[in-house]
Amino acid sequence: MNSGQEVNILAIESSCDETAAAVVVNGRDVRSNIISSQIDIHTLYGGVVPEIASRKHMERINQVIAKALDTAQMTLDDLDAIAVTYGPGLVGALLVGVAEAKAIAYARKLPLIGVHHIEGHISANYIENKDLKPPFFCLVVSGGHTHLVKVLDYGVYEVIGKTRDDAAGEAFDKAARAIGLGYPGGPKIEKASYKGNEDAILFPRAKVSGSAYDFSFSGLKSAVLNYLNGCKMKNIPIVQEDVAASFQKAVIDVLVDHAMRAVEEYHIEKFAIAGGVASNTVLRQRMEFACKERGVRFYYPSPVLCTDNAAMIGTAAYYDYLAGKRDDWSLNAVPNLKLEGSAKKY
Ligand code: KG4
Ligand code: ZN
Repeated sequence: MNSGQEVNILAIESSCDETAAAVVVNGRDVRSNIISSQIDIHTLYGGVVPEIASRKHMERINQVIAKALDTAQMTLDDLDAIAVTYGPGLVGALLVGVAEAKAIAYARKLPLIGVHHIEGHISANYIENKDLKPPFFCLVVSGGHTHLVKVLDYGVYEVIGKTRDDAAGEAFDKAARAIGLGYPGGPKIEKASYKGNEDAILFPRAKVSGSAYDFSFSGLKSAVLNYLNGCKMKNIPIVQEDVAASFQKAVIDVLVDHAMRAVEEYHIEKFAIAGGVASNTVLRQRMEFACKERGVRFYYPSPVLCTDNAAMIGTAAYYDYLAGKRDDWSLNAVPNLKLEGSAKKY
């Protein structure tokens, strides 16, 4: 066990298709952040195949952890706690990380800390922005989630808006498949968009009745499919880049609009973005501009900390560690774990 003042946390993340481990010191000092991506395998199937994801996590997790410790120049003896994502995500994938974390914690008599995946994404903002402290607002846009969140304190969240159907990243992935750009959709659409005209096609900006902050992206996906089918039936050539750019603008318009409405209603001074879609340069630029116009400080993580990684899990776990939160051996994978509920589990 580490006897100094530093808190060394080994964090594990395996909720989807990245097998990841990191060593994080005192929450914001990332000593290693190892990510073994399965994207090449899942690309063959056009999306993540859960059974394959679990098997690949099993094959890779020990090597990824060994590399994380090695890169941080530490051994298991130097650790103060083991952190792991326990939900939400693919149940078989989550179980690999949870079982591994429990085994290490049990064998080494170390505290075990289960972390909510979205809490991890939000916490990614703390790593490079050393001055960032709650309260602030965060727009979490990933493959599985679109949440507008009030970060009231470390580990304390209030979700004021979320998607009623597809997540923003899921919309990117589905639109990319329809356009013929392949998987994963987000980076492919972004790349194509730079060669396209974002005003070429007017796709809908969905509003959800009864909630100013909820999102809906399934209608947009249908609009893209209808547009493509219409072109095929009328023998109109499809300009992939124009469809990509116009689709991307429709998503970003809605995200920025909701975020700025919250800024104005709640008089927010600090706004952050997180999750895989937050690595989109056009979204970052639009958000930065909109925040600047309103005198709001804008925060965002580097792209590698936006997509799934274990450093963000280690950061979130550090604040749980300081608050004395610990899990026992009953920690289990919770595929549909809620963000607000996760703070009340202790
Ligand atoms: O956060 P993440 O790595 O995994 C989840 O927790 O879901 O997010 C993955 C999602 C995918 O849907 C991917 O298409 C999207 O993030 N994404 C992007 C970009 N890079 C990744 N979406 C838009 N633009 C990007 N550059
Ligand atoms: Zn994620």
